[in-house]
Amino acid sequence: MFYDAIKNSHGLPLDPFKALVAPRPIAWVSTVNAKGQANLAPYSFFNAFSEDPFYVAIGSGGYKHTLSNIEATGAFAVNLVSHELAEAMSRSSAAVEADVDEFELAGVAKAPCNLMPLPRVAASPACFECKLHTVVPLPNDQGGVNDYLILGRVVGIHIDDRFIVNGRVNTAAMQLVARLGYSEYATVTEAWRLRRP
Ligand SMILES: Cc1cc2nc3c(=O)[nH]c(=O)nc-3n(C[C@H](O)[C@H](O)[C@H](O)COP(=O)(O)O)c2cc1C
Repeated sequence: MFYDAIKNSHGLPLDPFKALVAPRPIAWVSTVNAKGQANLAPYSFFNAFSEDPFYVAIGSGGYKHTLSNIEATGAFAVNLVSHELAEAMSRSSAAVEADVDEFELAGVAKAPCNLMPLPRVAASPACFECKLHTVVPLPNDQGGVNDYLILGRVVGIHIDDRFIVNGRVNTAAMQLVARLGYSEYATVTEAWRLRRP
């Protein structure tokens, strides 16, 4: 099949787009508001875009608390999600008021960030401490903006030492959860190697 992506005329019962851009890693983003209240929410429009230096980006569908907090403080942390944290991650996606601490809602303990006045998810296998670089508004066809790209510079990285084996990160052992389409997820449970020419 082919369809016009501007009209989004796929003719299917559900939009297939996110089932095609898959798997998407999940950024479980912790932030604080100007009063220092903690916020935690998952974002699967997420990836890394450079390694010298490290930049990551998150897509916000609407002006959500996470984006508001990032603009207020210039800081955020991206916690990675292991399979055992998946249900807690999902609980933290509930649409709640800005003053609700989703760490408590999700039932996950906080640990302090090293470089930012932010909490991170203590049980997360890895966490990127980030400084806001730019927020890019993404225009829609009605002349407005609903979506935003949030670009951040990674300034600190936590790795759970249990996953460092013989000097390498054992990604498969972290059992990282990724988002597919619809309500589907995938878990990274094995790795295979292909050397570059
Ligand atoms: C696995 C998962 C991935 C999500 N990815 C995104 C995303 O990439 N962008 C987005 O705007 N919302 C995403 N959401 C929805 C947000 O988590 C949800 O709107 C949340 O309430 C936002 O919280 P906040 O207002 O505290 O930032 C996702 C939800 C789940 C469960």
